[in-house]
Amino acid sequence: MATAQLDGIKVLGGGPFGGRDLELMITRDAIQDRVREMAAEISGRYAARGPIIIGILNGSFIFMADLVRALQIPFEVDFIKLSSYGSETSSSGTVRLLKDISADITGRDVIVVEDIIDTGLTINFLRRRLEEAGPTSVSFVTLLLKDDVAKLDFTIDHVGFKIPNRYVVGYGLDIDQQMRGLDAIYALKEQE
Ligand code: IMP
Repeated sequence: MATAQLDGIKVLGGGPFGGRDLELMITRDAIQDRVREMAAEISGRYAARGPIIIGILNGSFIFMADLVRALQIPFEVDFIKLSSYGSETSSSGTVRLLKDISADITGRDVIVVEDIIDTGLTINFLRRRLEEAGPTSVSFVTLLLKDDVAKLDFTIDHVGFKIPNRYVVGYGLDIDQQMRGLDAIYALKEQE
């Protein structure tokens, strides 16, 4: 697993993502390489098991789309929408279910796909909820993990990158619903 470094600074002043200063954290190529590696690991582990892959909306939609297209196995997809963020950049402390899954996961192998684990509140809530439905197994995949913040009482099976405790945007991740379309991961520049 790779640990992200802030490898250079790119300030975006104008265009569709203008107005905020950003620092490049993970390049598009590094993301694409890592997503392919993760897909290969998952394909090896789930060969012939036909998992249901559950994406957590909204942030995981781009990661999920790239990940499933690199899988070499049969699978189904579903989505759940949860919210833990009260303000622009900090967790509200409670998780709300905004849209539930449609699939029956009883007796199925489930893979949860998350964009980023920050405090761990969302993924802890979801794990308890999914396990009530009696799946055969549940595993967790996240592109990003804020390792020194997350409080988890279980292991995340597949982590793309461990990142420092910075607010990040791009590749599906937003600030106030904006910037999801950036094809790399950027940290919001901290105020001086
Ligand atoms: P947690 O419940 O604190 O682990 O937060 C998980 C959710 O908060 C993620 O699914 C994201 O939607 C959002 N989030 C946490 N950190 C960031 C960030 O740095 N950028 C964008 N969204 C974030």
